[in-house]
Amino acid sequence: MSDPLFDLDGRVAVVTGGMGQLGQVYLAGLVERGMRVASFDVVAGAVPEGVRAYDVDVTDRPSIARALDDLVAEWGVPHLLVNNAGLDSPPDAAAEEVGPFEDYPEATFDAVMDVNVKGTLLCCQLVGGAMAKEGRGSIVNVSSVYGLLSPPQGLYEFRRAQGETYFKPVAYSVSKSAILNLTRYLATYWAKEGVRVNTLTLAGVWNDQPKEFLDAFATRSPMGRMLDAREAVGAVVFLAADASSYVTGSNVVVDGGWSAW
Ligand SMILES: NC(=O)c1ccc[n+]([C@@H]2O[C@H](COP(=O)([O-])OP(=O)(O)OC[C@H]3O[C@@H](n4cnc5c(N)ncnc54)[C@H](O)[C@@H]3O)[C@@H](O)[C@H]2O)c1
Repeated sequence: MSDPLFDLDGRVAVVTGGMGQLGQVYLAGLVERGMRVASFDVVAGAVPEGVRAYDVDVTDRPSIARALDDLVAEWGVPHLLVNNAGLDSPPDAAAEEVGPFEDYPEATFDAVMDVNVKGTLLCCQLVGGAMAKEGRGSIVNVSSVYGLLSPPQGLYEFRRAQGETYFKPVAYSVSKSAILNLTRYLATYWAKEGVRVNTLTLAGVWNDQPKEFLDAFATRSPMGRMLDAREAVGAVVFLAADASSYVTGSNVVVDGGWSAW
């Protein structure tokens, strides 16, 4: 028996960064619930049956517009946009990227802000604009506990103990903070057009990190562990579904209690 509060059958979703760790899980989770799902990503790869994969750079407005035109012609205006594409410095980033703040490279700052902030803004302009014309839609902008709070640099002490200079870089945090107010801005802007806009804030996702990091994370986390990517799907389903019809401008925090102490 389907529950009308959570019924997504036949609705259309766009997931940016659909080829990434979390993106893949969103694609599968939304298809399982009967949605027709499009992935917008710069990277190609295998997608679950029922997913259309588009080659889209979210920092490039014409590439978003092309994919959206095609998608609308095939399936109609999306009901859900998950702005999940993101750039962070990988653990093996160049030394200057993870070195002292005083020397943090401008070019890296620009690249991270471009994808995480401008990319989200452009997708909201185009996909959200089309939703507003339809008088309905839900946008989920993905943030991080590192956008709510500073990264605790102590989590990375094990790297310094190995003789490296390592600080979790600044741009990711700044970009993910910007998401919180982009969401609030758009939630109020489109409130009467029926487009709801919310932030989904996640804590660190388990991805086979080094034991020293997992141990440090467990000490910092009230639940004593990282997020399993599959645990992020429920919040997206809630924000996509009629169950959240009065929820807009909010921040749904899925962090195992990280921000509670
Ligand atoms: N993994 C975590 O611990 C964690 C924690 C909190 C929040 N998040 C957020 O969740 C989202 C997904 O994270 P993830 O861990 O799956 O990352 P990921 O690196 O595995 O995936 C990101 C995806 O975005 C795509 N992408 C990058 N630049 C793009 C561009 N210009 N245009 C289109 N696609 C682009 C990449 O190709 C990749 O497929 C990000 O917004 C991230 O900030 C992740």
